Formats: sequence, structure tokens, C-alpha cells
Amino acid sequence: MSWLVTGAAGYIGSHVVRALRAAGLETVSFDDLSSGFRSFVPDGEPFVEGTVLDHDLLVRTMREHHVDGVMHIAGFKYAGVSVQRPLHTYEQNVTGMVTLLRAMADADVRNIVFSSSAAVFGTPDVDLVVEETPKAPESPYGESKLIGEWLLRDMEAAAGFRTTSLRYFNVVGSGEPSLYDASPHNLFPLVFDALLAGRTPRINGDDYPTPDGTCVRDYIHVADLAAAHAVAAQRLAAGDTIERAYNLGSGDGVSVREIMDAMARCTGIAFEPEIAPRRPGDPARIVATGTLAARDLGWAMRHTLDEMVTSAWEARRAA
Ligand SMILES: NC(=O)c1ccc[n+]([C@@H]2O[C@H](COP(=O)([O-])OP(=O)(O)OC[C@H]3O[C@@H](n4cnc5c(N)ncnc54)[C@H](O)[C@@H]3O)[C@@H](O)[C@H]2O)c1
Repeated sequence: MSWLVTGAAGYIGSHVVRALRAAGLETVSFDDLSSGFRSFVPDGEPFVEGTVLDHDLLVRTMREHHVDGVMHIAGFKYAGVSVQRPLHTYEQNVTGMVTLLRAMADADVRNIVFSSSAAVFGTPDVDLVVEETPKAPESPYGESKLIGEWLLRDMEAAAGFRTTSLRYFNVVGSGEPSLYDASPHNLFPLVFDALLAGRTPRINGDDYPTPDGTCVRDYIHVADLAAAHAVAAQRLAAGDTIERAYNLGSGDGVSVREIMDAMARCTGIAFEPEIAPRRPGDPARIVATGTLAARDLGWAMRHTLDEMVTSAWEARRAA
């Protein structure tokens, strides 16, 4: 009995593997290393290098390792790039999901936890996003995640699958210094890159209708996120009824200006950020409640903002 973790060599997948193992679950790591690192896979962990587009390899892996559930974390995650590369995004995220679901059905594996995203909501016109907030994705990336959720719903009805989608908001921090977010597009890596290169970090837009004029987002620590996956896996495997989707949000927004202040405080590098123009399509505020996840998945924000920044900075410098 074990869990197949796709995308296990990536930033979030590598934390999820550790959380599952810490909870006493067996895991098999599966990754094509397109954006992940072999070194993120723990020593002694079974690792299969391959793509979720490879049906036969998936079936073989599930059978050989007696898999009874899948954490589907692999994906192409760059929303901005997805606008230029819609077919690539759909192939990785939608064809990948279809192939994986077919392989699961063929290997008689029916439990699946899916990495969905806040991007399914687009620019919600509410102060606090809840699970039922209308979905209005604004990029091929967000669309591909919403289609993933629909595919799971359809496989529940058609083939008795047991599924849940975890919608991540802004995932930051590091659970151990060897694991870091290598994304060239996220705020934390962008600020760290600027600081390490001696450049001044930038704020895109300080004239939004928010308390300090900068965008407000919902930041969550990757280790807290990973812990919720372990509970979701245990509950699905136990046959418990859980929701089809959970927002993993903090209920509390942090502005880009507040992040910059925390960056200066935690890195010890004093700086005054440059104010650059707004980026097209950046909503003023996206913050979600994590109430349902707290009820069912033991979801809690166990780390402070300074712990998120400090752990991410340590991991980035160790990279
Ligand atoms: N990082 C965030 O803030 C965030 C927010 C919302 C959702 N997500 C979702 O969480 C998941 C993980 O994100 P991450 O930040 O760890 O990104 P990441 O790029 O570090 O990890 C993705 C992993 O999947 C692997 N992969 C990609 N395509 C694959 C394929 N076809 N077959 C097998 N492996 C493949 C990559 O090599 C990589 O190791 C993604 O699905 C992403 O869309 C991330």
C-alpha cells in the first residue's frame, strides 16, 4: 500500500513526500524532471523518472509498488507563460490528468488528491474567497486546473473514484534548507534574486485600492500545506467522506509592501523597493478562508510570515 506522488521532485511535491513519510505512509516518487530536481527526492525513496503522459509506465509503476492512491502534483504552473503556450499547458495539465486517470482505472487505483490552484477563481470580487466562490479562470493555466477538477468529479460519478482537489494560494517558505522554490516568476524568488545580485527589488503598482496601495495576497507555508496532504491521503484511504475541493488559504492577506518589509527584516539587507508600473491582470486582493480544510484536514497556519521569509531565504542561499 503506497501513494504515488507525481511531481515529487518539485518544490511542493518534495515537501509532500516528506509529510507523507512522516505520517507513516509509503510513497513512490514520479517526476519527469522538467522543472524538478533529482536531489529533492529523499535518499532511499523509490523514484521513477517519467512523464504523466506515459500511460503504460504509470500502470506499471502503480502495479509494481502496490499503489492505492495518487497525489497528482505534477504540472506546468506558469500562468503568465500559459497565455503564450496554451497547447503545452493543456497537454501537460489536461492530457496529463486524463492519461493518469485512465492509468489509475486500469491499475484499479481510485484515490486521488489533486494540486489545484487559486487561479481557478480568476479575479474574485469578494473580500474572502470560499470554496463556492464562482470560478472564472483568466489563463490557460487556471482553465487547465478547473478542467482537472471537473475530470475528477466525472470520474467519481463514472468509476467510483474518491477524489479531492486542494486549491493552493501563494505557497512560500521551505521545510528544510535543501528544498526551495526555483520558479523564476514568483515574488519570493524574484526578490531574493534581486538582493543576491545587488539590485533593488520592485513593487509593481502602489496605487491599488488596498490599505497601503500594494497588492494583497494570501501566503501559506509549504510545510503546512504538505501536512494537509498527509491528512487528505489518510482520510481518503480510510473511506471517510471529505469535500471535493478545499481552499488552502490563511484568511488573512499580506501586502507586497509588508512582504518587502519582512524581507528586509529577515535578510538583514536594508532596502527601499522601487515602485514600477502595475502588471496587467494583477488583481488588487485575493485572500481565502481555510475554514473547511481546518475542519477536515487539520489545516492550520503554523508558521509566521517571518518564518516563511527566513526559511525561504536560507534555502535560496543554500541552493
Ligand atoms: N507554487 C505555487 O504557489 C502553486 C500554487 C498553486 C498551485 N500549484 C500547483 O502545485 C503543483 C506543484 O507546483 P510547484 O510549485 O512544486 O512546481 P514545480 O515546478 O517545482 O513542481 C512541478 C513538478 O512536476 C514535474 N512535472 C512537470 N510536468 C510533468 C509531467 N508531465 N510528468 C511528470 N512530472 C512532471 C516537474 O519536473 C516538477 O518536479 C503544480 O501542479 C502547480 O500548478 C502551485
